[in-house]
Amino acid sequence: MRARGPGRVNLLGEHTDYNAGLCLPFAVDAGVTVEAEATDTGEIEAEALDYGEEDRFDAADPRPAEGWRAFVRGTAGELKVAGISVPGARLRIESNLPEGAGLSSSAALGSALCLALLAVAKRPEPDRRELARLCSRVENDWVGAQTGLLDQMAAFFGEPGHALLLDCRDLSVEQVPLELGGWTLGVADSGSRHAHAESGYNERRRECARAAEALGVETLRDVDEAQARSLPEPLDRRVRHVLRENERVRRGVRALRAGDLPTLAALLDASHTSLRDDYEVSVPEVERTVARMKEAGAAGARIIGGGFGGAVLALFPPGSQPPEDVLPVAPAEGARLLG
Ligand code: GLA
Repeated sequence: MRARGPGRVNLLGEHTDYNAGLCLPFAVDAGVTVEAEATDTGEIEAEALDYGEEDRFDAADPRPAEGWRAFVRGTAGELKVAGISVPGARLRIESNLPEGAGLSSSAALGSALCLALLAVAKRPEPDRRELARLCSRVENDWVGAQTGLLDQMAAFFGEPGHALLLDCRDLSVEQVPLELGGWTLGVADSGSRHAHAESGYNERRRECARAAEALGVETLRDVDEAQARSLPEPLDRRVRHVLRENERVRRGVRALRAGDLPTLAALLDASHTSLRDDYEVSVPEVERTVARMKEAGAAGARIIGGGFGGAVLALFPPGSQPPEDVLPVAPAEGARLLG
């Protein structure tokens, strides 16, 4: 049997997921395929073709593993905690997600592994929200990346032709038609992988937690701009970004429903300005990439993902010619078994 986990693009709603806020992602066609064969060895053997690596281990072995191995071990480990043990399996992992395009290869791998191992264990698929939470625990506790739920929810709930309005307060979702007409959405790699991307991301999370604590609220979802202004610098700007970004998601949804892509483009630009100036997660290479997209005719462009390097999302109007390094993206199906 084979399972497919998609990459994702987030239209709007950056650094809002871990603040119980709103996001507007969609799943893309590129992703990770896990081919699984049940065995009775009690072991999970795995081969990751794109890394040219093979491995064989007892999934119950609690010793830490790195990279894709940590995902395999963590998914089997978390399924076991949920009462689902995988008897034994041989896995082949293959990806066609371009490196560094910021399409979240980790959620693609996690969701594909999860569905593949459930199929091997002959278990029906549980609630997809629970699966997204399970994959998120794998990333947090086994892989060691303190990410939110945006990527996993996009991977499990993506639908062709739609963006996903995701409310991270209760994980409710709403499908919003995304019709591009003659417009092109594309991602471009800035070429920059900053060594402090992870520490920078974690620092922003800590700042948000500190701000919430100072304001006496559980999450920044419960805060308004007047409260944000009462905070010391730079917490005031961090919170302002989060609040306005939630509002941009709401406006983005209205723009999509009205088929108003120029407004969506303006929201991408505003999101970028806020991520650069208030949230301070941009770097010079990303700024150059955004400028290059705008010069090539993009109506809107912004940094995507965790920040401190990475990729840029740009929206090109009909008749323009996106630069050659731009990878076009469009909403595609979420994680699924291929049979
Ligand atoms: C990374 C994380 C997500 C989210 C974004 C920022 O991509 O994996 O959970 O926090 O950063 O929006």
